[in-house]
Amino acid sequence: MSTPPPYEEILDYVLIDADRLQARVAELGREISADYQADRDLVLVGILKGSMLFMSDLMRHISVPHNVDFMDVASYGAGVRESSGTVRILMDMKVPIERRNVVIVEDIVDTGRTLQQVLRLLAARRPTTLRVCTLLDKAERREVPVPLDYIGFTIPNVFVFGYGLDIDEYYRNLPFIGVVKPGLVISE
Ligand code: PRP
Repeated sequence: MSTPPPYEEILDYVLIDADRLQARVAELGREISADYQADRDLVLVGILKGSMLFMSDLMRHISVPHNVDFMDVASYGAGVRESSGTVRILMDMKVPIERRNVVIVEDIVDTGRTLQQVLRLLAARRPTTLRVCTLLDKAERREVPVPLDYIGFTIPNVFVFGYGLDIDEYYRNLPFIGVVKPGLVISE
């Protein structure tokens, strides 16, 4: 894989700058803290790799004790879907979730298919509660209904990158959410 051009050549405009992002992440952390104040047995489950930065910032704003774990699932649509219709688990989480309160942490919900399958997988493990926190909701693109309990920003149907989201596996480290210039051939 060849290295990409500088991100400035890919960036059309900044959709959500770092200050707005951080302010909203802090709000989400406070909301989650308030909701789990009474029942403190909380597990955050990040879906790799996009949720990395969001998780690391979000957890710093969650004031109730909690576990953090990660799961990596194979994207649907690349011939990886099993006959059962479930996504393939590339790396399972290790922390047990039975009879615990679980919040799935996603960077973006697009068609909803990944999350639908992750919700099915985790629900089968009998958590007490199972909720979803996504930084970005590309609602226009939804193909299957998924319940979203905490939403950072609802965004239009544009190709975004930065703050965990990649372009061909690059630029996940940018502190803002940017929009890719129209016409560039990229995979989100
Ligand atoms: C992205 C994102 C979600 C999924 C959303 O992951 O992190 O898991 O796609 O899309 P959907 O709603 O259409 O299912 P991706 O497969 O790009 O992997 P990554 O997080 O490792 O970049």
